[in-house]
Amino acid sequence: MDNRPIGIFDSGVGGLTVVKQVVKLLPEESLVYFGDTARVPYGSKGKETVTKFSSQIIRFLKTKNVKAVVIACNTVSSNCYEELSEEFPDLPITEVVTPGVESCIAATKNKIVGLIGTYATVSSGAYEKRLKAADPEIQVYKKACPLFVPLAEEGWVNNDVAELTARKYLQELIDKNIDSIILGCTHYPTLKECIGRIVGEKVTIVDPAKATAVKLKEYLEEHNMLSEKGHNAERLFYVSDKSHFEQICSRILHENYSAEKIDIEKY
Ligand code: DGL
Repeated sequence: MDNRPIGIFDSGVGGLTVVKQVVKLLPEESLVYFGDTARVPYGSKGKETVTKFSSQIIRFLKTKNVKAVVIACNTVSSNCYEELSEEFPDLPITEVVTPGVESCIAATKNKIVGLIGTYATVSSGAYEKRLKAADPEIQVYKKACPLFVPLAEEGWVNNDVAELTARKYLQELIDKNIDSIILGCTHYPTLKECIGRIVGEKVTIVDPAKATAVKLKEYLEEHNMLSEKGHNAERLFYVSDKSHFEQICSRILHENYSAEKIDIEKY
């Protein structure tokens, strides 16, 4: 048993969609969340910059005595996971790409799948490589949808602007006859309803967040690292800039939390 908190981080508020699933599955676990709201987006930045930012965040989370870290960001997961695992060998790190790939393989029937994410995630080839390793017959059509990130941060997830943007981005994937689509960015599940309307009900929407929480739970169970039964979970939220964090947090988690601003450059 291990009552220390789990650290979860993202470039901004997107990782809260992963927090939601972790809280559902592991309600007794304490969490420390960090959203890099001052430096978002990561998706248009280079690998070196994103790796440096992520290292700083993990160093900060370590000061909170975390027992494990979840990279709740596809851009970091698909570009920097190896580097971060090497830099922090004593810390179990869970990423979101592998669970997303496994869920997609389980969902697709015609083996024609869509992948949407940031420029950095899509161009890293991480999803494609793993999907093809799991099933060489799979065809992957990808599309970077960078405007979904500010829409999610602004809370414009289900209006005419979101719908028009989704149609512009997704029509070319629909035309390829995809039967499933991976939300390869943790901001995108906030637009799930809108994306669902555009792709239609025959297309399965794959959100890696749930499978990520399952992977984390399995790891903690296997290593006897779950918190004790009845443990009073504490949830702490940190950001590098205030933005609309609290508002979005209550919209995604349906609970009110306030976030403390910290200077992440110090770590
Ligand atoms: N949440 C990030 C991800 O999953 C995307 C947002 C960003 O560009 O920073 O990739």
